[in-house]
Amino acid sequence: MPEPLAQRSTVVPTLPSLLAPFEPLETAVESWDDSHRATVAALRQATDQLHKEAFARLIRAFKADPAGLEILKHLAGDEVVYAVLRHLELIKPSLQERIESALASVRPLLQGHGGNVELISIELPDTVHIRLLGACDGCPSSNLTLTEGIETAIRSHCPEILTIKKIAGAHPPSNGHHQPAALISPFSLSREQGWEAAAELADIPDRGLKAVELQGHSLLLSRQAHQVTCFHNACAHMGMPLDMGQIAEGIVTCPYHGFQYDLTSGECLTAPEVQLVPLPVRVTGTTVEVQIPR
Ligand code: FES
Repeated sequence: MPEPLAQRSTVVPTLPSLLAPFEPLETAVESWDDSHRATVAALRQATDQLHKEAFARLIRAFKADPAGLEILKHLAGDEVVYAVLRHLELIKPSLQERIESALASVRPLLQGHGGNVELISIELPDTVHIRLLGACDGCPSSNLTLTEGIETAIRSHCPEILTIKKIAGAHPPSNGHHQPAALISPFSLSREQGWEAAAELADIPDRGLKAVELQGHSLLLSRQAHQVTCFHNACAHMGMPLDMGQIAEGIVTCPYHGFQYDLTSGECLTAPEVQLVPLPVRVTGTTVEVQIPR
């Protein structure tokens, strides 16, 4: 029987408490076979589509009235409303989300060298502070890593960012003008989000390449025993596809002008200041999955 209005709890659930049931359910679904996972994905997509249309109609109605527009702006600041609208792609990614996406795009390369990078803070309107971690911190070439890799990624995802500062040590700056890194949609942070089956492990030749088209992206998969890497199928010189290039000793040579790349790291051996653009990749059972940026 429904709880009488007067007796209803006034405790407002937090976003983490609302999201808590998702993780064990998603973990359970991940263990199912492909057909069951596909059914869940289709159900999720249809549900999202329904919710998206309903919310889009509500938003249109709010926007038609200046007072409604103000209410809408206020509501978008609510963490639950923001998270759901962001998940349904009715709100564009925040600056912080785009910076995190940029860092995620270079993380596989950094991790391949025992390093990493984290966002420390955003200094509006145009500056970000990051910190290099692990082998990248203190590495003699870390300035080059920062300038040519991380900086390029941030600028391509966030053209409004003009200055990228590397923070040394363990503590972020604290002059009161920095926006802490905290307002990212938790949906976009899900490590389980965006993974797409790209190939069977056995279909990628050892020390060779396999080109795949996935969600509109042309990708290169490479394998050395059980280690798989994934890069955009685009030469860093002029963006030409690399899948027809010659491969020898784990190195691919671009068929157009001869740039060479190490397939375990994406490093360009011809012009060290550029590199292939990596994507996160994992092997689940016998299936190679790639995390496609949203
Ligand atoms: S496009 Fe690859 S070397 Fe020029």
